[in-house]
Amino acid sequence: MQTFSEIAPLRAALAEARQAGKSIGLAPTMGAFHEGHLTLIRRARAENDAVLVTLFVNPTQFNDIEDFVSYPRHPERDAPTAEAEGADFLFTPSPDEMYPKGFDTVVVARGLSERLEGASRPGHFQGVATVVAKLLNIAGADRAYFGEKDWQQLQVIRRLTADLNIPTEIVGVPTVREADGLAMSSRNVLLTAEQRRAATVLASALDNAQAIADTGVQDAYQIAAWLRQTIEVQPLARVDYAVVVDPETLQEVDSIENGALAAVAARFGKVRLIDNRLLRPAPGPAVRR
Ligand code: PAF
Repeated sequence: MQTFSEIAPLRAALAEARQAGKSIGLAPTMGAFHEGHLTLIRRARAENDAVLVTLFVNPTQFNDIEDFVSYPRHPERDAPTAEAEGADFLFTPSPDEMYPKGFDTVVVARGLSERLEGASRPGHFQGVATVVAKLLNIAGADRAYFGEKDWQQLQVIRRLTADLNIPTEIVGVPTVREADGLAMSSRNVLLTAEQRRAATVLASALDNAQAIADTGVQDAYQIAAWLRQTIEVQPLARVDYAVVVDPETLQEVDSIENGALAAVAARFGKVRLIDNRLLRPAPGPAVRR
């Protein structure tokens, strides 16, 4: 594995790989690898001739300085892991390399960025969209891999690649979960043991939403209300949102008859977690409860 902290030599190495006829898969990360990250790298490995992993805790996507400071960082562990998973190139830029003096451009997917996470974390998606546009431009990859746990981020990235004519295929990779259902996240290590146990309520509430849909309920507001109530039963959870939305636009829907996304965000102490699940309607006519 070749490691780069500067853009120019990375670009030269990638150009050489492309000239040799190799396809390139990009797995952008902020490090502190867990199984979810490894799944992105493995998928990139399986579907491309060469794999680039990027490791950059992007300061511009943190709207809360405390969250940025406490974000887990283990570069000394991540680099050998990336190599063991078959990465050919590792890119670990400094903030100055990504945002040199005079940097003055931002990328915003306007509508999408204002909803859900965007409403709770002003500026977050501008930071994500800008850094991802830069990474996609630097890599010139054939495919780039992003986790579905950050479903809204995935939609923002699909939007910006389409709008800016970036010729990289964006591949969504299913959420990896702990044995008790908790979606893997770098922030999970910040939970106390008690909060960690309580946090499983997010996945069970989402399962519950599908169980309700399985009984024939299609009313999105009713399902969202059940979703919120299930989470609120857990005293350590402070719900930020619990909604049922269109999977692409993330706008609220009235009915799940054509499928919908249940999305939740809640705080457990200082740690804010998100999760989501696609809901499918039960076959047959809708019922009211
Ligand atoms: O999902 C992440 O880890 C980050 O938001 C990303 C896509 C690497 C951009 O910094």
